[in-house]
Amino acid sequence: MLPIIQPVFGPEEEAAVLAVLRSGWVAQGPQVAEFERKLALVAGAQYAVAVTSATTGLHLALVVAGIGPGDEVIVPSLSFIASTNAVWMAGATPVFADVDAELPIVTPESVAAVWTNRTRAVLAVHQLGVPCERGVLRHMCQERGTRLIEDAACALGTLVDGKPLAQGADLAVFSFHPRKVLTMGEGGAVTTDDAALAERLRRLRNHGMTVAADARHGNAAREGFAEPAWNYRLTDIQGAIGCVQLDRLDAILVERQRVWQGYRARLHARLPHLRVLTPPPQVRWNVQTGCVRIADGKRDAVLKLLNDQGIGARRGILAAHLEPAWAHLPHVALPHSEAWAHDSLALPVFHGMTGEQQDEVVAALAAALS
Ligand SMILES: Cc1ncc(COP(=O)(O)O)c(C=O)c1O
Repeated sequence: MLPIIQPVFGPEEEAAVLAVLRSGWVAQGPQVAEFERKLALVAGAQYAVAVTSATTGLHLALVVAGIGPGDEVIVPSLSFIASTNAVWMAGATPVFADVDAELPIVTPESVAAVWTNRTRAVLAVHQLGVPCERGVLRHMCQERGTRLIEDAACALGTLVDGKPLAQGADLAVFSFHPRKVLTMGEGGAVTTDDAALAERLRRLRNHGMTVAADARHGNAAREGFAEPAWNYRLTDIQGAIGCVQLDRLDAILVERQRVWQGYRARLHARLPHLRVLTPPPQVRWNVQTGCVRIADGKRDAVLKLLNDQGIGARRGILAAHLEPAWAHLPHVALPHSEAWAHDSLALPVFHGMTGEQQDEVVAALAAALS
C-alpha cells in the first residue's frame, strides 16, 4: 500500500528515545521543556506548552480564553471532528460557519454571518495547513471583545509572507499525530505570546498543580493545587522524539514540496481539469495533505478503485454536521462545507515518494475518472 503519509524517523530518534529510557526520567521533564523551547522558535511564539494532542490543546485554549457553558464558539463544520468536540469539551456550544468555495477555510464573511450576542470566541482552522485570513478575523474578534483561537493542528511549517502562520496568535494549537508533518506518536501544543495564559496552560495540563513535576521532584517543593484541572502531560520520551523531529522539520518540508510539485506537474499533464488544492501565492505551504476534488459524486467510487489498487488515498475533509455525533445541532446552510466533504480526496504524499510512484497514482486516478 502506498501510504497517505509516513513518519520520518531515523537513528537520531532511536538514540533520543534510548537516552531518555536510560536516564530513568520518562514522564514530562527536561525533554518536554526543550521541545517547547524549540517549538516556540519555529512557531514564532513567546511560549509553547506541550500537551497530549491538539484536541486536549484546543480544550485548554478554550478554557484559558474563558469559554464555558452558555457561550457560543464559531467553528467550521468542515474540519476533523476534534475542532467541534473541543468546544463541547469546554462546555460551550459550537456554531458552524461555512468555508470558502475554493479553499477549505472559514472567511470573515462566513464568520460574521453566524455571529450572535452569545459568541465568545472564534475557533478558526488553518485547514490542511492553508491559512485563514487571521488578521481580519483577529481584528473582528478584538473589536467585539472576543478571542480568536487558531486550530493550527495541520499547519506547522506553513509560512505566510515568510513568517510562521500563527506568529503573534493569542492562542494557536498544533498537532503531532502521525498524519501530521512532525510526529512523536501523539502530541500537541498550544502557543501564545501571553505569559499569564502560558502559565495557566501549564498548570491546567498538570492537575492544576502550582509546581511543575520536575521541579517538585528536584527540590521537594511543596505543591499546591490552584484549581480543578486535567492530566494532559506529554512524556519525555515523546519530547525527545519531538526535539529531533524539529531539527528535521526544514528537510521534511522541502521533501513534501518536492513530492507535491512532482504531482502537480503530472496531474496538470494528465488531468488538466482536475481541481487541485492551491494555497494563495504569499503562502509557503507545508503540504500537509495533497488534496484534489472529484466532481459529480464520483469521489467515493474513485477512492475505492484507488484503495483496491494499493493506493492509500483517503477521504479529504469531513463536515461535523454530516456526522451522527453533531447532526442534531442547528446550523445555517453550509453548501461549501458539504461540497468539500463530498468531493475532497487526499492523495499519498510521503517522504521519499518516487516519480514512478506518483505516475502510478496519477495513472490510477485518470483511469478511475475515465
Ligand atoms: C484541524 C484539526 N484539528 C484538530 C485535530 C486533532 O488533532 P489530535 O489528533 O492531535 O488531537 C486534527 C487532527 O487531525 C485536525 O486535523
